[in-house]
Amino acid sequence: MNTNANKTVLILGANSDVAKQCILQYQEKDFSIIASSRNLDSLENFVEENDIDSSKITLKYFDAADFSSHQRFYDELPTKPNIVIYSAGFLVENQKALHDFAGVKQMMEVNYMGAVSILNIIVMDESTKNLERIIGLSSLSGVRGRKSNFIYGSTKSAFTQYLAGLRQELSSRNIIVNVLVSGYINTKINAGLELNKNLLMEPDYVAKHIVNVGNSFSIVPNFKWKFIYYILKFLPESLVAKLP
Ligand SMILES: NC(=O)c1ccc[n+]([C@@H]2O[C@H](COP(=O)([O-])OP(=O)(O)OC[C@H]3O[C@@H](n4cnc5c(N)ncnc54)[C@H](OP(=O)(O)O)[C@@H]3O)[C@@H](O)[C@H]2O)c1
Repeated sequence: MNTNANKTVLILGANSDVAKQCILQYQEKDFSIIASSRNLDSLENFVEENDIDSSKITLKYFDAADFSSHQRFYDELPTKPNIVIYSAGFLVENQKALHDFAGVKQMMEVNYMGAVSILNIIVMDESTKNLERIIGLSSLSGVRGRKSNFIYGSTKSAFTQYLAGLRQELSSRNIIVNVLVSGYINTKINAGLELNKNLLMEPDYVAKHIVNVGNSFSIVPNFKWKFIYYILKFLPESLVAKLP
């Protein structure tokens, strides 16, 4: 018996290149999907291009930074989700961000505040027992403060810490929380940035790690990035300060 057929995945920020690959992979596993984004036209094209069964996907408008809309967004969902993925993200390059507080504020709102706003609403809903798992897409840039990316990194660090605490809070209800701690992915958020091609991962590869995640908290796709992750985590501050 296929146990996924009655389950629903809610993707918040579903126009992300990684999220779109998650949609395809969850679809293969027979989940129903609620794909939510500010850009429904792009999602409609994606559904059409990939011949996704329209009875298995619902598209819903969601703006992570419009906090006051979040309760109504959740109340109006056609089904309360079993799995929730928060993939909305916004990046302003560090040197620019140092002079652009509007951009910084948007990073804080999309990468952290919006996530806390909607996820708190979802987990506090006592009217459903559907919720099994929450997966947040965070970043290796949130592991240590480094001069090349500490502003975006600090929003991701806050998000990771929120998810760690949320995992503890929800464990007695058997709800699992995972965090994707990802290195560079070949997606539009990095457009125009010069990144080491040897370290660049494709969105479908990262999506596979998300869709097949287990019980441990952190997901760090790719052995090279795992190695970098552990070095970064334990490196003394005096050496971190020498990194870009
Ligand atoms: N690519 C990387 O190297 C990398 C590494 C570590 C972590 N991540 C994280 O992974 C997640 C997915 O990113 P990605 O790599 O797939 O890049 P992406 O394709 O640029 O996806 C980011 C998505 O966030 C959405 N978004 C931005 N502001 C939003 C808002 N106010 N409300 C709703 N959605 C909003 C964007 O929507 P629109 O398309 O409508 O603008 C975009 O689809 C992000 O959280 C990112 O920070 C990425």
